[in-house]
Amino acid sequence: MDVDSIREDFVVLQKEVNGKPIIYMDSACMSLKPLKVLEAINNYYMNFPSCAGRSNHTLSNQVEEERKKAREAIQKFIGADRSNEIIFTRNTTEGLNLVMSSLDFDEGDVILTTDREHNSNLIPCHMLAKSAGITHQVVKSGDDFTFDMDRFQQALSDKVKLVSFVYTSNLDGHTLPVKEIIKAAHDNGSMVMLDAAQAVPHHDVNVKKLDVDFLAFSGHKMLGPTGTGALYVKEELQGLLRPFMVGGETVEWSTYDDHKFLNPPERFEAGLQNYAGEIGFAAAARYISSVGKDNISWHEQKLTERLHEGLSSIKGVEIVGVQNPSLRGGITSFNVSGMGFHEVAMLLNENDNIMVRSGQHCVHSWFKAHEIEGSVRASLYLYNTEEEVDKMVSAIGEIAKLS
Ligand code: ALA
Repeated sequence: MDVDSIREDFVVLQKEVNGKPIIYMDSACMSLKPLKVLEAINNYYMNFPSCAGRSNHTLSNQVEEERKKAREAIQKFIGADRSNEIIFTRNTTEGLNLVMSSLDFDEGDVILTTDREHNSNLIPCHMLAKSAGITHQVVKSGDDFTFDMDRFQQALSDKVKLVSFVYTSNLDGHTLPVKEIIKAAHDNGSMVMLDAAQAVPHHDVNVKKLDVDFLAFSGHKMLGPTGTGALYVKEELQGLLRPFMVGGETVEWSTYDDHKFLNPPERFEAGLQNYAGEIGFAAAARYISSVGKDNISWHEQKLTERLHEGLSSIKGVEIVGVQNPSLRGGITSFNVSGMGFHEVAMLLNENDNIMVRSGQHCVHSWFKAHEIEGSVRASLYLYNTEEEVDKMVSAIGEIAKLS
C-alpha cells in the first residue's frame, strides 16, 4: 500500500493551517474523502441532478440506474447475496433505530447489549424498555476490557430476542469475536444486530460468512459523504420489520384509507433520498476495495502499535480500555495525568494541527461505570503515516511535561 500516493487523493491533506500540514486523527468520527468520492458527487450534481424512482425522463432514469449500481456496490462490499438486502440510511444510528423500532417486541423480551455500546445502540433499548416493556440486559466485559464469552453464554436465555452488539468499539477499537457470538445467539434462537460503524471501514466484513441478521454502518466513516449509511437486513427477516418511516416511494398504491407497501428496500426508504450521497458512498466502497481492506487494517495495526509504544514510554500517559494494541485496530484512547482530555486535544490542535476527539465518545455509560471522566482518542486510517504518529508522540511528550 503506497500511503504517499493515497494521500495525494485527499485534497485537505495538501493544505496547511498556520503554515503547517494537517495531522488528521479523527477518522472514527468522520473520515476524510478522496477525490473519487468528490467526483462521484459532482457527477450527480453536474450531469443528472434529478430524482429516482418517480419521474420517467432521461435524467431521472440515469439517477435510478446509478442508484442501482450504488446499491450493488455496497452489497458487494459487505458480501451480501442480494442488493435488496441493503437499505440506504443517513447513518449507523438510523439503521440501528430502524431495526429496534420496527421489530415486534413483547413484554419481557430481552435485548442483550455489551457494556460498551454507543448511545445509538443503547438509548433505543431504554426507549423500548419504557414503551414495550422489554428487559435490557448488559453483558459486562472481562477485567481486561475484552469481550467475555462466558458471561455472554450465561446471559443467553429463551427470553433473548435480540443480541445487539457493537462490532468494533469506537471507544478503544476492540473488535468482538462476532462469528462465535452470532453462532451462539442463533443456537439460542436469538437474532443478532451489529453496530459495524467502526468495523466496515477498517477490516473485511462479510455478512454472509458471519450469518448476521442486521448490520448497520455509515458512509462518512469510510471515506464517503456525510449523512450516508446502510442497513443490511437478511432477506428472510425483512418481513419481521414494520415500516419505520412511511410516505413517498414506500407504497405501490394508496386510497384514502388504505395502501400497499412496496417490497424492501424501498419500503424502508421514505421520501426523496440522498442520491448524490449514495453514489459517493459507493465510490468510497470502490476506493477502499481498490486499496484492499486487508492492506488498510494491516497499516492501521502497524501505526497503532507504533503509537502505543511511543505513548507508553511517556510518564503520566494512561491507555484507556483494552491495553493490548494488537486488539485495538486504529483506535487509541488515552489520558495524560494531571491534564484534562479536552485541554490535551486543544493543545494538540493549537500547537501541531493534530486533530483528535476528546470526551466520552457517545459511550457515556461505559465511562460512568468505570469512573473515568473521558479520554483523548486518536483514530487512524489509511492516510496516516509513521511520521504523523511520531509527531503525535512527541507532541504528547511535550504536553505531559506541562502537567
Ligand atoms: N461515533 C462517532 C465517534 O465515535 C461519532 O466519534
